[in-house]
Amino acid sequence: MRVAVAGGTGVVGRHTVAALRTAGHEAVVLSRSTGADVLTGSGLVVALAGCAAVVDVTSVQTTSGRVSREFFGTATRTLLSAEREADVPHHVVLSIVGATEAPSAYYAGKALQERLVRESGTGWSILRATQFHEFAAQLVGDREKRLHLVPVMRSQPVAAAEVGEALAAVATGAPRGLDRDLGGPQVEEMPDLVRRYLAATGRRGRVLAVPLPGRWGRALRDGTILAGPDAQLGEQTYAEWLTAQVVRGAPTGP
Ligand SMILES: NC(=O)c1ccc[n+]([C@@H]2O[C@H](COP(=O)([O-])OP(=O)(O)OC[C@H]3O[C@@H](n4cnc5c(N)ncnc54)[C@H](OP(=O)(O)O)[C@@H]3O)[C@@H](O)[C@H]2O)c1
Repeated sequence: MRVAVAGGTGVVGRHTVAALRTAGHEAVVLSRSTGADVLTGSGLVVALAGCAAVVDVTSVQTTSGRVSREFFGTATRTLLSAEREADVPHHVVLSIVGATEAPSAYYAGKALQERLVRESGTGWSILRATQFHEFAAQLVGDREKRLHLVPVMRSQPVAAAEVGEALAAVATGAPRGLDRDLGGPQVEEMPDLVRRYLAATGRRGRVLAVPLPGRWGRALRDGTILAGPDAQLGEQTYAEWLTAQVVRGAPTGP
């Protein structure tokens, strides 16, 4: 089966492409580096010829609700329109657990993305995952700091590789609508994950846990972003993932 992965060069996109290829499918990588742009539409229709599904794992780094809504709104509309033109029958999107409940700027774009996909009239599947194990590394960033401010946040981190495998399985099956949440095997505290990441990778800096104010801060603490009771759970723990990064000698940064 031929499947396109929009964002196939990103953290989870790379794993999705690998999982598709391991299972014997043809994976087409759509990203600006391969000449396909989900905002302008350039290169999309030609690349989508003969595809049975598109997996959308594109992203934008922003703390602005306007930027997030503009990115996910435009990307989703553009992709869906190219899929209609190329006769692609199945659109798969990776969303985030809590995207439609937790009032965050970034999540506002994800909630809009979900709504556009549900209303698209095409065959669709939405998989909501919790934060990846890589999220703690993304919070640390590349720059050395003496102090890392980390929100007080209960998270159920999952291996991006396992999310990629799940997306490949969804994309090569019939449209599922809203799938069961995908979460990691354990509930963890984000400041603790960052401390462990710094210690394991020999990075410097003290971690200060900051309780964020308002409804977003409460959502981070009260379980809104944890996988639901009927969730599918990944197997690799954060500790196992961290050990694997250090053994490989290549700690995963942002
Ligand atoms: N990170 C998490 O913990 C987490 C958890 C649950 C769900 N998610 C969701 O998973 C998705 C992927 O996240 P990620 O962390 O894997 O993203 P990422 O590593 O930041 O990768 C983003 C991808 O999008 C592509 N992209 C960006 N702008 C594009 C454009 N205009 N046209 C074509 N491609 C474009 C990038 O490639 P180029 O730069 O080459 O274009 C890259 O391949 C996001 O939608 C996110 O909301 C993330």
